[in-house]
Amino acid sequence: MTERALLKVLAGESLKTPPVWLMRQAGRYLPEYRAVRAQQPDFIAFCLNPQAAAEVTLQPIRRYGFDASIVFADILLIPHAMGQKVWFEKGEGPRLAAMSLDTLSALRPDGAAQKLSAVCETLRLVRAGLPDSCTLIGFAGAPWTVATYMIEGGGSKDRWKARTAAWSEPETFDRLLANLADATADYLIAQAKAGADVLKIFESWAEGLPAPLFNRVVIAPTRRIVERVRAAGITAPIIGFPKGAGPHYVRYAEETGIDAIATDHGLDTDWAVANLPRSMPVQGQLDPAVLKAGGAALKSEVSRLLDAWGGRPYVFNLGHGINPDVPPEHVSELLAHIRGR
Ligand code: CP3
Repeated sequence: MTERALLKVLAGESLKTPPVWLMRQAGRYLPEYRAVRAQQPDFIAFCLNPQAAAEVTLQPIRRYGFDASIVFADILLIPHAMGQKVWFEKGEGPRLAAMSLDTLSALRPDGAAQKLSAVCETLRLVRAGLPDSCTLIGFAGAPWTVATYMIEGGGSKDRWKARTAAWSEPETFDRLLANLADATADYLIAQAKAGADVLKIFESWAEGLPAPLFNRVVIAPTRRIVERVRAAGITAPIIGFPKGAGPHYVRYAEETGIDAIATDHGLDTDWAVANLPRSMPVQGQLDPAVLKAGGAALKSEVSRLLDAWGGRPYVFNLGHGINPDVPPEHVSELLAHIRGR
């Protein structure tokens, strides 16, 4: 266990060569992923098929030897398990059945984690296939981000309906967030018990929220999850990723109870180095477009990030998920730059 570089960094050590993994490292940029996906037309069923999900989770580890493996699953499994229909339109992304806020907030968290026991089976299969040095990461979406998909019926540009609902029906809205937090905590606890060494909370839509709303819909429900996970005796480090939170990153880091913070590429590096808690491990924050560009830009951006975060407990990653059009050999280039310094 102690040989796992990611766990050392999350415990506060700073390593000369940082551990590296990439968000969406299992995904459509890999031909071997596309081959499995072609046999799995229903995305939710794919996520809940332990053999297929374990296979695509392991693919990028075999190809690149990343320091961490993140289980192949999706943040929208929680609404699925709580009773809202979720499906994926080819080329369009996720769709969720239209439901009123009252109906959504009446969906119960109890039993949702048990309905996702297939993900725990995937974690067991992945652990058995991983090198001992590779850290296994479990994850879930944060309540606000998941609620935006539930209310909007899919992705949306500015989360208008969700933000309006949060302001106009605060009690009902906060009940939905609390229920999501409880289901999510149970799900993360189950993942840790199934072998996840680290847990990550994806708050992908933390951007564009005024402070009072950020406190209410991002910080409070995230703290509720962390407290519940800790109350269950789970000690696995928790990485929080409030993508696009800007200056709110600092309070997120200080007030949610998370152990490490993932930074996005839009967050100013110098500002983040100066303002994030010095002892807190940081992950990030290469622009995924730089990985697509490759070449000189990739080399100089890797150097800039390694220099800026050097001396701190630091985990190399992108600032968001890898794009489907990234050439797989650019990932090898990236690893050579990081590990060859
Ligand atoms: O490799 C990994 O990072 C682990 C697996 C993983 C997936 N989704 C697989 C996936 C993880 C960690 C996620 C998280 C996720 N899912 C987030 C948070 C991170 C982020 O990107 O902000 C969000 C918002 C979702 C919801 C979701 N799932 C969307 C918006 C989409 C469509 C995206 C697209 O590019 O079309 C998905 C589908 C999805 N989840 C894919 C993968 C590999 C692509 C599906 C396919 O094969 O067609």
